[in-house]
Amino acid sequence: MSKGSLLSASIGRKLLMSVTGLFLITFILIHMSINLLLIFDDSGELFNVAAHFMATNPLIKIMEPVLAIGFLVHILWSLMITVQNMKARPVGYNKSSQAINSSWASRNMLILGAMILVFLGLHIYDFWWKIKVAGSPLLEMSTGSVEGMHNTYALVTTLFKGSVIYCLIYIAGGALLGLHITHGFWSAFQTIGLNNIIWRKRLFVLANIIGWIFIIGFSSIPLYFMIKF
Ligand code: HEM
Repeated sequence: MSKGSLLSASIGRKLLMSVTGLFLITFILIHMSINLLLIFDDSGELFNVAAHFMATNPLIKIMEPVLAIGFLVHILWSLMITVQNMKARPVGYNKSSQAINSSWASRNMLILGAMILVFLGLHIYDFWWKIKVAGSPLLEMSTGSVEGMHNTYALVTTLFKGSVIYCLIYIAGGALLGLHITHGFWSAFQTIGLNNIIWRKRLFVLANIIGWIFIIGFSSIPLYFMIKF
């Protein structure tokens, strides 16, 4: 492959990482907003109605496989780019000069991503698998005034109320994801081309704000159940 086509292939791969990453951030923002209903209404009704809407809305149903593909492409491409970079640069950068020029998250994106993947495996088993495939008696509990929907609130909160370890795992999951995004969000726009001096700074600040919103937003949910119940 010529130097030019090698470069454009590499940019193409990074572009796909950026686009899938930004798509996943949008999903996660919606997911977190709905999950926060868990701590704003102890009756569970608000969360159950929102979860029911998400589970039955045709548009969301179409988006579910798209989301799965988004995750898959994002993960596979990150591995491919890492292997390719290792091949192109077998000696590696000087670690101390790297530390001065970049954040901890930016130097550890792959390890952060791998840990999020482990968390995601457990998380999908905890909720998605039980809701969509295996079932659970908790889901069949009465939801009070609104009939004909799963009691997803009972499924989620029973897990958090019953185990401090689980709460800590979910706090860690939110923190890992937020850290990953403090670099990922900024980096995605660099790749897309918004990388002049002014936008570099703005996006850097914005990425940190979004990352911290995810860290605080997701962690506050298990923390709430750990402290209150
Ligand atoms: C307090 C933290 C969280 C709670 C309470 C929570 C709750 C849930 C629930 C109830 C579901 C099942 C939805 C359904 O299928 O009807 C679900 C699915 C899912 N969650 Fe989370 N989640 C949390 C954190 C996260 C984090 C940090 C991520 C990203 C790394 C994440 C990614 C996903 C994905 C990809 C699905 C499957 C897609 C879907 O069907 O919506 N979740 N979550």
